[in-house]
Amino acid sequence: MEAQRGPTVLVTGGAGFVGSHTVVELLNNGYEVVVVDNLVNVYKGDGTLPVSLKRVEEITHKKVLFYNVDLLNPVLLEEVFRMHKIDCVMHFAALKAVGESVQIPLTYYKNNVTGSIILLEVMKKCNVKKLVYSSSATVYGTPQSLPLTEEHPTGQGCTNPYGKSKYFVEEMIKDLVFSDESWSAISLRYFNPVGAHESGRIGEAPSGIPNNLMPYIAQVAVGTREKLKIFGNDYDTPDGTGVRDYIHIYDLAVGHIDALKKLLEPSFSRWKVYNLGTGTGYSVLDVIKAFEEASGKKIAYEIAPRRPGDIASSYADAQLAKKELNWVARKTLLDMCRDMWRWQSNNPDGYATGPKV
Ligand code: UFG
Repeated sequence: MEAQRGPTVLVTGGAGFVGSHTVVELLNNGYEVVVVDNLVNVYKGDGTLPVSLKRVEEITHKKVLFYNVDLLNPVLLEEVFRMHKIDCVMHFAALKAVGESVQIPLTYYKNNVTGSIILLEVMKKCNVKKLVYSSSATVYGTPQSLPLTEEHPTGQGCTNPYGKSKYFVEEMIKDLVFSDESWSAISLRYFNPVGAHESGRIGEAPSGIPNNLMPYIAQVAVGTREKLKIFGNDYDTPDGTGVRDYIHIYDLAVGHIDALKKLLEPSFSRWKVYNLGTGTGYSVLDVIKAFEEASGKKIAYEIAPRRPGDIASSYADAQLAKKELNWVARKTLLDMCRDMWRWQSNNPDGYATGPKV
């Protein structure tokens, strides 16, 4: 039996990796969804809908309402808000390549910070004052203690414009919420989202050389890249390689649904921050081993110098989300690698892959 249609959620950046997986879960949970995306990091295909969203429709058997609108264009954005009765916004749209953000900081601040300001202004004008924000564990900077709780200081030691932009926008939303009690917002601090939808139809499709570990490993496994460079094996970690809290994109998407339910409760206390992670750290070598098991492929690698700005270890204390949202990450590292491999092997060129589109 189909779930009753719920509130309408406007999703910025809904055609991207985290956005598209969250749209699937929103639709599966009976929410109405309106996607706004400027497609800057998305394979467009040749239709009116980007391929990622066509596949969301295929997975959910539901229609996706999509507008090719840039957050920097307040006029078009307001038109979208006026066309629908929006109850809440989930804000994913942002540029996210750490290295690139150091090269072109103004582009990052304009897209991520100015884009968010314009979104919030349009929301205010249209009297939509509930927001789920896509934040990042990067706001914690270099961890002073592990696991990272939501109380850990933020903003100190954010080493790049991308990380700073996430921190600035979080602060901005917090100030807004405390300035006017008709606003409420939840910020979700993601650890390292990986994997893909279990259907293998949607996943992460980085353009160019992947910056992140798992997409790179997947490209080595499929033969697109020759070997992985491990950025340092002399960290103070059990095997010397960097340790991170990898979280399956499905668990992350479900975390958004649970946060949304919380936000829509009449008793919600206006501003909350939650970590979304598993609470367990794995090293680069652990990930390679799990990926080899999942794919049956050998992952060639070499040890390279440390990557500037990297930290030794980062993992979440995810107890607050468990206690208050009743959310826990359920998928294992092997699940993440299996689903990533299904996506990568079926779509070696991401959404641009030939006839399967
Ligand atoms: N790594 C390699 N080789 C690679 C890529 C990564 O050895 O080719 C290592 C890194 O040194 C690190 C680990 O794999 O130890 C994970 O690196 P990622 O680039 O996948 O992820 P990061 O933890 O560096 O960064 C990610 C996101 C950021 C976000 C941060 C939040 O990319 O956007 O998590 O903590 F800010």
